[in-house]
Amino acid sequence: MQQDIKEAVAAAWAAAWDRGEVEAFDGILHPEYRRLTAGNGNLRDAAYLKQEILDIRAAFPDLVTTVDNLLVDEAEGEAAIFWRSTGTFTHDLPGVPATGNRVETRGSNLLTLRGGLIVSERVTWDRAELLEDLGVPSLRSAFEEPEEVVVDNLSGVPSIDALKGFNRQFITGVTVVTTIDDEGRPRGLAANSYASVSLDPPLVLVCVQKTTSTHDPLFKSSHLGINIMSTGQRDTVGVFASKAPDKFAEVEWHRAPHGSPLLEGSAASIEAEIKERFLTKTHTVFISKVTHAEASDLDALIYKGGKFYASGDLEQL
Ligand SMILES: Cc1cc2nc3c(=O)[nH]c(=O)nc-3n(C[C@H](O)[C@H](O)[C@H](O)COP(=O)(O)O)c2cc1C
Repeated sequence: MQQDIKEAVAAAWAAAWDRGEVEAFDGILHPEYRRLTAGNGNLRDAAYLKQEILDIRAAFPDLVTTVDNLLVDEAEGEAAIFWRSTGTFTHDLPGVPATGNRVETRGSNLLTLRGGLIVSERVTWDRAELLEDLGVPSLRSAFEEPEEVVVDNLSGVPSIDALKGFNRQFITGVTVVTTIDDEGRPRGLAANSYASVSLDPPLVLVCVQKTTSTHDPLFKSSHLGINIMSTGQRDTVGVFASKAPDKFAEVEWHRAPHGSPLLEGSAASIEAEIKERFLTKTHTVFISKVTHAEASDLDALIYKGGKFYASGDLEQL
C-alpha cells in the first residue's frame, strides 16, 4: 500500500511538473486538498496549484524537476517530498518580465494523507535563493498581488488627497531615467522619485510605474542611467514625461560605459547597476549601485507642486 502511494505521487509529480499534465494530480489529491506555502502563509486549493504549475512551466520552458527523496509514513498519515527544479526564466510571469537567468531552486513538501490521498501540503522552499538567481531578489511573489498600502490621514481615514498634499510640499529635482531596450533603442522617462540611499556602498533608488513603456525594458536591464535635469532642459522634461515614440530624436546624448543613455546638458548624470527590484502594487522600486558619474556646474531644475523653477537665484538661509 505504502509503495502504491509512493509510486502514485512520483508519477503524478513527474506528469505535472515535467510534462504539464496537471490533471494527473486529480488521482492523488483529496477533494479538501489545501496547500500552505511557508513564508507567505498562503493557503491554496488544487485549481490554484495546477494553474501555478502551468504558469511556471510557461515562464521556464526548459524546466526540469527532480524528486531527490520521497518518504511515506502511512501509519502516521504523512509523507515528505524533497525536490529540485532547474530552468531558464524565458517568458514573463504575471507582472514580472523575464530576466533570461538560469536558476536552480529546491524545497520540501510535507504531505498529510487521508484515505490514501493528499489532503494538505506544506511547502518550504528557498524563495530568497531562487529570487536572487532570477535577478529579482526582493520580489515578494511572482504570482500574487502585493498587499495594498493604505495611507491614513490624521483622523485615521484613508485619503489619497492627504498624501498628495503632503507630496506637494516636498520639493524635488527632476531626473530622466534611461535604459536600452532589447532592440538596442534608447528608452527613458521623467522621474522625480530619485533618492540617494547610501554613499558607501553608493546606492540610489528610483520608483517607476509598471504601466509606463520604459518599465519593462528597465526591469530587464542590468544598468540604468539617471540624469538630473538642468534649468535649460524644461522642454526635455516635457518630452520624457510624454508617450512620444522616440523621445531621443530631438536630444543629444551619449552612452555611459555600460551603454545607458546620458543626456547632454544635464546638471549631472550617473550610470548604475540594478541590484534590487522591489515590486509594490503599481510601481517597481529599483535600487542600483552607481558605477559611473558625470557632473556639470549647470543649475538644476526644481519641481514644486506640479511646477518647474530655476535654481540659480535661490536665497540661502
Ligand atoms: C516631474 C515629473 C516626475 C515624474 N516622476 C515619475 C516617477 O518618479 N516615476 C514614474 O513612473 N513616472 C513619473 N513621471 C511620469 C512619467 O514621466 C510619465 O508617465 C511618462 O509618460 C512615462 O513614459 P513612458 O510610458 O514612455 O515610459 C513623472 C512625470 C513628471 C512630469
